[in-house]
Amino acid sequence: MSGYYLLGGQVAVVTGAARGIGSAIARRFAEEGARVVLGDVDLAGAEAVATEIVERGGDAVACHLDVTDQAAIERALALCLTCFGQVDVLVANAGILYNAPFLETPREAWDRLIAVNLTGVFLCMQVFGRHLVQAGRGGRIIVTASTAGKRGSRFHGAYCATKFGVIGLLQSLAAELTPHGILVNGVCPGNVETPMGEQLVASYTRLLGVDEATARRELLAESKIPRPARPEEVADAFVYLASPLASYVTGATLHVDGGMVMR
Ligand SMILES: NC(=O)c1ccc[n+]([C@@H]2O[C@H](COP(=O)([O-])OP(=O)(O)OC[C@H]3O[C@@H](n4cnc5c(N)ncnc54)[C@H](O)[C@@H]3O)[C@@H](O)[C@H]2O)c1
Repeated sequence: MSGYYLLGGQVAVVTGAARGIGSAIARRFAEEGARVVLGDVDLAGAEAVATEIVERGGDAVACHLDVTDQAAIERALALCLTCFGQVDVLVANAGILYNAPFLETPREAWDRLIAVNLTGVFLCMQVFGRHLVQAGRGGRIIVTASTAGKRGSRFHGAYCATKFGVIGLLQSLAAELTPHGILVNGVCPGNVETPMGEQLVASYTRLLGVDEATARRELLAESKIPRPARPEEVADAFVYLASPLASYVTGATLHVDGGMVMR
């Protein structure tokens, strides 16, 4: 069925889109016909991905966006409206990782994780949520949560707290915004081949005092698929949740984790 795109006519804003899962989401959304705004603190990285999308015939624009800065989020929304005239989908994906034994977790690391992973999602949801309600055309809000938002694990306390937090936030927002036709969902990746995925391997190698191969095996011990996900495999879950195929799905968290956490 040529000419049919899952996200045809949609405009999406993706945070943390310069690399990793966010860049894969932006590419897949563009392939499915969406026009995309890519926001990231790494402007050069976001511009490179946007250029690649445009060279392949898609429509994309990049902007500098720090999700802890409400004014910057408002500017990203304004840019989206100027360039594309509307917004339909927010993907709140930007996040950072920090691993340490809980008793050795510095207050500064905790504060930074909360600021980016939790307050950043709160601010993006609020700025875009208000606009979507006011525009009255419905929409989608999709958050990159994590299996770390479903259960705690060693060296992961502060990060897990932020991901449990975003799941509570998205479920509450789903209860409030679904009557406005705005569906709110999350995706819970397990291990993914991204720079953050490599950061996790490096921290586990150090924290467990093992070699890198052992750390990789340890991280995948509970996955029923014995490899990390490719970012594109995670991005496809976002395509689904942004598409008409997910018209009856809200308040959900979709695991894309190789069966690591089965609940
Ligand atoms: N990689 C994994 O294994 C994995 C697993 C589960 C969940 N996640 C989550 O997926 C999301 C993306 O992870 P990734 O693996 O692609 O990470 P990544 O580190 O490879 O990429 C994250 C992107 O977010 C950007 N970013 C960081 N702070 C920002 C800020 N304040 N404002 C705007 N952009 C910012 C970075 O510049 C980077 O481009 C994160 O929320 C992460 O917690 C990742």
